[in-house]
Amino acid sequence: MLFNDEKLMTGQVPAEEPERQAYFMKKAAQQLREVSERKGRPLTFDVVTFGCQMNARDSEKLRGILEEIGFVKTDTEEADLVIYNTCTVRENANTKVYGRLGGLHSLKKQNPDMMIGLCGCMMQEKQVVETIRKKFGFVNFIFGTYNIYKLAEIVSESLASPKRMIVDIQEKAEASVEQLPIDRKYSFKSGVNIMYGCNNFCSYCIVPYVRGRERSRTPQEIMREIERLVADGVVEVMLLGQNVNSYGKTLPTPVSFAELLDGICEIDGLKRIRFMTSHPKDLSDELISVMAKHPDKICPHLHLPLQSGSTRILQSMNRHYTKDSYLALVDRIRAAMPDISLTTDIIVGYPGETEEDFQETLDVVRRVRYDSAFTFIYSKRSGTPAAVMEDQVPEDVIKDRFDRLLSLVQQIGREQTARFTGKTMGVLVEQINEQDASLVTGRLDNNIVVHFPGDASLIGKIVPVRLDSCHGFYYLGTRADSDALVSGT
Ligand code: 5AD
Ligand code: SF4
Repeated sequence: MLFNDEKLMTGQVPAEEPERQAYFMKKAAQQLREVSERKGRPLTFDVVTFGCQMNARDSEKLRGILEEIGFVKTDTEEADLVIYNTCTVRENANTKVYGRLGGLHSLKKQNPDMMIGLCGCMMQEKQVVETIRKKFGFVNFIFGTYNIYKLAEIVSESLASPKRMIVDIQEKAEASVEQLPIDRKYSFKSGVNIMYGCNNFCSYCIVPYVRGRERSRTPQEIMREIERLVADGVVEVMLLGQNVNSYGKTLPTPVSFAELLDGICEIDGLKRIRFMTSHPKDLSDELISVMAKHPDKICPHLHLPLQSGSTRILQSMNRHYTKDSYLALVDRIRAAMPDISLTTDIIVGYPGETEEDFQETLDVVRRVRYDSAFTFIYSKRSGTPAAVMEDQVPEDVIKDRFDRLLSLVQQIGREQTARFTGKTMGVLVEQINEQDASLVTGRLDNNIVVHFPGDASLIGKIVPVRLDSCHGFYYLGTRADSDALVSGT
């Protein structure tokens, strides 16, 4: 153990991490046992994730800590502790959280001992915390993106004073505490944070303000974490960062993302490596060669956010690439890996976007032919440069452009997805199909979903499957012999 029980008894709180949190996990466990004995039943929790993969990974860390304390996981908000891990990248994410807090209030009226916690990106905004203090006084605790490792300490404090709202928000990253328990959603695949924060300050984006400056973990730390995961049965990792292509630049001994990937490929037993997100301005030829060198391990998929096809708008967005340089990058990627799947993010209605600018976006979509694209209506985020720009685009114009873009990306996405019909490829089986229990559901290395007849014994295995028919964005298939594989592992 990281500290001895004597300290718990004598009330000496360790100052250093992770010992301090280990102490609070034990202390909270003791407090929880008392409540649980009083109630005559175990106490349950539900962590609800809004937003991106980073938040999903953070939620696994929160669940790991809560289980260590002795809470029992449930998937309903009728729980003794509910935590919302929030997102603030677009305004509607905030609106959703406020709306759902109303529902939690009703539940708390039925169960007055219920604890409600809020964390994540939204909580790093001062006006959000003020609103919660004023309008949602029933919330028990709030913490931010820089101190999720402190959950045990916050829960312990909250158990001791349940009537008080605890607000623990840091302005910037102080400590990075990694060696805490994690409850993985899947036993066979896992996200791995390789860096935190973002330095890019795209004009529309709030992320750098709520997640702070870029911080890379060392390659040694990342490799050790992946080796431990593999020893624990993980075959696929997703390397996570807001901009993985600038990984390692700020380390005392700088390392490139390509070098990191090359090293990770050497880990025995690891079958698939994914990563996101790649900023087009930083995607190096070195990375393309490393991907092409390890087609059996590095998944043939790149998420390459375009945001806009108009060079003028890209400049205003502070993206540091042009329409032509983006298209040239795609050509280099496809020359090295012809079958690669490309996906993207596109914003419609950025301030000043004209019909001509929008046509440039449609042109890039037609030329690149993405496998899929996330399309977003521009959302004004206060504090960002774009929020105070003139020429905000009228709502009806945005809606019309959004519909046209969506129908184009869907049509092309369907055509692209179908290009593997009849081939046999490796599917990493994730679960029993939710609609039909005689089927299992999994993913190709390029992330396309496949359903095929099978049972629970296949979960976590990579199985060769013939892709019989394509149905929009997924395939129906049948199991094939191992030697029939044409690509992937
Ligand atoms: N409005 C709309 N979409 C946004 N994104 C980021 N900020 C905004 C905003 N203010 C989108 C970008 C990014 C994705 C994660 O969210 O496309 O790539
Ligand atoms: Fe936001 Fe740009 Fe950073 Fe992505 S790269 S998180 S869009 S600022």
